[in-house]
Amino acid sequence: RVSATLRDIRLGTAVLVDNLQKNVDGGKYIANIKKNYQWVVAEVGMKPKQIWIGENKYNWATGDWLIGSPSNPIGWIQQNGLQLRGHNLLWPGNNFMPTWLLQQESSITPDKAKSLLEDYITTVVTRYRGKIAGWDVVNEAIDDYDSSRPFNLRDSFWFRKLGRDFIKYAFIFAHNADPNVELFYNEYGIERTSLKANRTLELVNWLKSEGVTVHGVGMQWHIDVSKTVTPGDSYYQNAQRFIDQGFDILVTELDISVPMRNGKPINPADIQKQGVLYRSVLQYALHFHPKCHGLLTWGFTDRYSWIPSFSNNTKGDALPLDASYVPKPGYFQMQEELARV
Ligand code: G3I
Repeated sequence: RVSATLRDIRLGTAVLVDNLQKNVDGGKYIANIKKNYQWVVAEVGMKPKQIWIGENKYNWATGDWLIGSPSNPIGWIQQNGLQLRGHNLLWPGNNFMPTWLLQQESSITPDKAKSLLEDYITTVVTRYRGKIAGWDVVNEAIDDYDSSRPFNLRDSFWFRKLGRDFIKYAFIFAHNADPNVELFYNEYGIERTSLKANRTLELVNWLKSEGVTVHGVGMQWHIDVSKTVTPGDSYYQNAQRFIDQGFDILVTELDISVPMRNGKPINPADIQKQGVLYRSVLQYALHFHPKCHGLLTWGFTDRYSWIPSFSNNTKGDALPLDASYVPKPGYFQMQEELARV
């Protein structure tokens, strides 16, 4: 954290708010966050599926605990000298939509959908106005394969009601509610030049051409240890073209998984490789600084990570601290890189 601050780059991590509230693991969870990071993002709890529980009904539990509420303005984030990135205001994938909204789909007109979207985004962004380091406004709207819609947008409630304009509206409503907050489009699998990265660039360029405020693109960086990242390669070329078009980039959800068997890396040397790769991604972020002003990992200890369950335990050990909070090579590699003059 100290070295990152000196380099003017923000380091962040996704956190599980349950773990903060329970102060798990004898305080090690919280202590490691405060020691290493300036930014925090809620891994769950501030997405529409959790906040938006009905029309004009909101569950503020996680957000308010983190950043305060009208009646109790100082939340855990400020008490601990951290900043929160908001994730996310709109996640169109069917599994990530509020169930009640999908259930009412047939009776919701396009006009009604637009006003629901406006209500939701305005209410959330206004509640936390001035207290958020940036919002992921739209998360993962582009399909991996389906090219039948503009920008390869995935089929979704929002697309069915409003077409591609739903993305435009989301950014406009967010900007109107807090004109000072940074607004990002966040996506996975767009780190290198690829069809999906092309479509993302077209999408944000379209928003810009419509006069919509979009500060940048969050590239998630869920990668595995087989990758290499080197100056001039397709990762660098991709970032550069977004920047050339006037967008900032952020590394928003970095983790580097290794193949696992029986709870252990199949190849123990992968943990060294992973260390080098953590450094390479940080070098990439620093190379593009200040157009890339932050790097967040999706969790920080192998004790709590979405990767093992998501991969049926074939991948794991993806983070800079091990499951006992002992720093791994990735931690030291990043520390060394940040300490370079
Ligand atoms: O906490 C409940 C638990 O009480 C309950 O018994 C259990 C039963 O399913 O669910 C638990 O909640 C789970 C939650 O993670 C807590 O870990 C949810 O089911 C599960 O859907 C949720 O998954 C999260 C997922 O987003 C969906 O919100 C993952 O943790 C989180 O890592 C993942 O994060 C996403 C980013 O938002 C977007 N980019 C990709 C990234 C990884 O998939």
